[in-house]
Amino acid sequence: RNEVLTIPVVVHVVHNPAHPEQNVGDAQVHSQIDVLNRDFRAANADVSQVPEVWRPLVADARIEFALATRDPLGNPTEGITRIETDRDGFDTSDTVKAAETGGADPWPSDQFLNLWVCQLQGGLLGYAQFPGGPPQTDGVVILHTAFGTTGCAASPFDGGRTATHEIGHWLDLLHIWGDDDGACSNDDRVGDTPNQASSNTGKPAFPHVTCDNGPNGDMFMNYMDYVDDEAMFMFTRGQSERMDACLEGARASFVV
Ligand code: ARG
Ligand code: ZN
Ligand code: CA
Repeated sequence: RNEVLTIPVVVHVVHNPAHPEQNVGDAQVHSQIDVLNRDFRAANADVSQVPEVWRPLVADARIEFALATRDPLGNPTEGITRIETDRDGFDTSDTVKAAETGGADPWPSDQFLNLWVCQLQGGLLGYAQFPGGPPQTDGVVILHTAFGTTGCAASPFDGGRTATHEIGHWLDLLHIWGDDDGACSNDDRVGDTPNQASSNTGKPAFPHVTCDNGPNGDMFMNYMDYVDDEAMFMFTRGQSERMDACLEGARASFVV
């Protein structure tokens, strides 16, 4: 795919009126969309921090995101819904994704990327549904304080990278360490990312060698690791190809 693909996005802000900061403002929503449009085009300023050895692998995924301008009925919209809830918080059980359980129903998930922004319990920053799952729960959920770069976004997750990471999953990217808990036996099924043992957190120092992946070690500055927002700044060409395969397969409805 040579053309840039634009994915229509709807943001469902699910907020408890007892906690006004959960009702993130339009500016915070726009700040998140701006981050996505930089990160998925390799137009983020911090891409310059990618270690020299991996610069040739940096990918412009040619994917952009735009808040929906028409709702499912064809009426004009800002692409943001605001839903009051009486829940104290949500978890990975998907209750935020249905009005019936105190959340917001998705817009048709073959036409819109649904992003739910809410309080999440247990230190969870966000979670995503992989392609091929049930349409009524398809999309990405993000903690309000890990969403965008302004408003209630809180350090060290105030760089908008939780959404970048979760949308990576939504487009079929796996964790860069292969979720094998240090075994070095599984990888992320992407050829140009080094096999690595486990997730990295915080702001690691380069190089960090695991799974015999020296001398360069883990590509911990990849969006699909678990480092702080300011420590992640690249997708690879191999990851971009995997996202393309998803957009030619399970998510082909987004390619017009
Ligand atoms: N699902 C992951 C979590 O909740 C998201 C990690 C995103 N990392 C980040 N630096 N924003 O931990
Ligand atoms: Zn993840
Ligand atoms: Ca790999």
